[in-house]
Amino acid sequence: HAKLKDFPDNFLWGASTSAYQVEGAWNEDGKGPSVIDMANHTEGVTDFKVTSDHYHHYKEDISLMAEMGFKTYRFSIAWTRIYPAGSGELNPKGIEFYNNLIDELIDKGIEPLVTMYHFDLPYTLQEKGGWSSRETVDAFENYARTLFENFGDRVKYWLTINEQNMMILHGDAIGTVDPNLENPKKELYQQNHHMLVAQAKAMNLCHQMLPGAKIGPAPNIANIYPASSSPEDMIAADNYAAIRNWLYLDMAVYGRYNTIAWNYMEEKGYIPVIQEGDMEILKSAKPDFIAFNYYTSQTVEASRDNGEEAGHTGDQQISVGEPGVYKGAKNPNLKVNEFGWEIDPAGFRTTFRQIYDRYQLPLIVTENGLGAFDKLEEGDIINDSYRIDYLRQHIEQIQLAITDGVEVFGYCPWSAIDLVSTHQGSSKRYGFIYVNRDEFDLKDLRRIRKQSFYWYKDVIATNGANL
Ligand code: BG6
Repeated sequence: HAKLKDFPDNFLWGASTSAYQVEGAWNEDGKGPSVIDMANHTEGVTDFKVTSDHYHHYKEDISLMAEMGFKTYRFSIAWTRIYPAGSGELNPKGIEFYNNLIDELIDKGIEPLVTMYHFDLPYTLQEKGGWSSRETVDAFENYARTLFENFGDRVKYWLTINEQNMMILHGDAIGTVDPNLENPKKELYQQNHHMLVAQAKAMNLCHQMLPGAKIGPAPNIANIYPASSSPEDMIAADNYAAIRNWLYLDMAVYGRYNTIAWNYMEEKGYIPVIQEGDMEILKSAKPDFIAFNYYTSQTVEASRDNGEEAGHTGDQQISVGEPGVYKGAKNPNLKVNEFGWEIDPAGFRTTFRQIYDRYQLPLIVTENGLGAFDKLEEGDIINDSYRIDYLRQHIEQIQLAITDGVEVFGYCPWSAIDLVSTHQGSSKRYGFIYVNRDEFDLKDLRRIRKQSFYWYKDVIATNGANL
């Protein structure tokens, strides 16, 4: 482009967290246990009991976010604080905590952007079958109604389910399903269907109850490259795009199963039970925007050997593949971060263009960022220049996408403040704000501004002009 378009006025600069990764206070003030609290955690790294203790530090944390100039803050509500058993009895202390948090944000001029559910399903629901059970759909609808009733006067932006596609694709790793089941994948696609129905119900409810509010899905969407220009690799990339990305968004936006994904499910025997009326519900619900998380792109090749399950792409530690359908492949054009995740800023722009082309809805990024072992130096200095580089390169690509004509209204990198990663502990840091703790030594949990804090503050102050 000869000339770049500016970021729009009122662009929602901010950052993200999720309840179970940042709040701590895992069993305080009436909170019930979630699947996370009851899971066996990765050996050698911390659990989620204290994390960054945001539950007790939220005022201080929000004031630091305000200092950075945040226009929005994306956080999730812990379902188990509101309904300790997933449904049934309401916990007033949980409502109170989020009322206080939301009021604090509004007071500081920060728009709350609320994820309704981020991996932490109430354990009581899990015991009754979790997302395999229809009951969880009803419980989610009831929970959604409670959130809209209690917080809808102040929360204008809602996200339904965080990374539903990752829960299905990596259900064994995220703990959505018992890997010892005879056919765990079939189970996962049943869960997927239930989550899709639950999401549609929540979107409809939001529009009925809160006419001024906006709601959308928040999957992880990534551009997918064929490993070569071979036509077979292109088909594999298309297959993977349908199964990984479009299945979820086609349903959220158009209320229909993506054809390629449906055929894949049929061939593999994963077709879910669809109850009468489900397809009508799915069809009737429409999101107002699409939120997505992006860390890395993906590359796949044809699965040439039918016995060979998977390869590695994006996150080099996670295997990706389906016999006969696609197989993860390394992208030789990309560098990887300290944790083996491929870094692909240009792929971010492609991802924007593809989503917008397909759905023509406004887009907001709800996660993007770099996990690293930050080092606290003498004088409270954390020189995370590598994080600044990563974020700068990605923001440049947002501006290019905007210049391409894509409607983007916000950017919330992961994470606002250091928190505990999904399975690699608290030493894998993502925040603009350092939390002074070690993997097992909680120290003083002091908040310290990183180099990236000052940098991002200036980015926001100049609406993206100073990168
Ligand atoms: C996203 C999740 O998948 O990636 C977050 O929504 C997570 O919960 C983030 O923390 C980074 O992944 P990780 O495994 O490094 O924590």
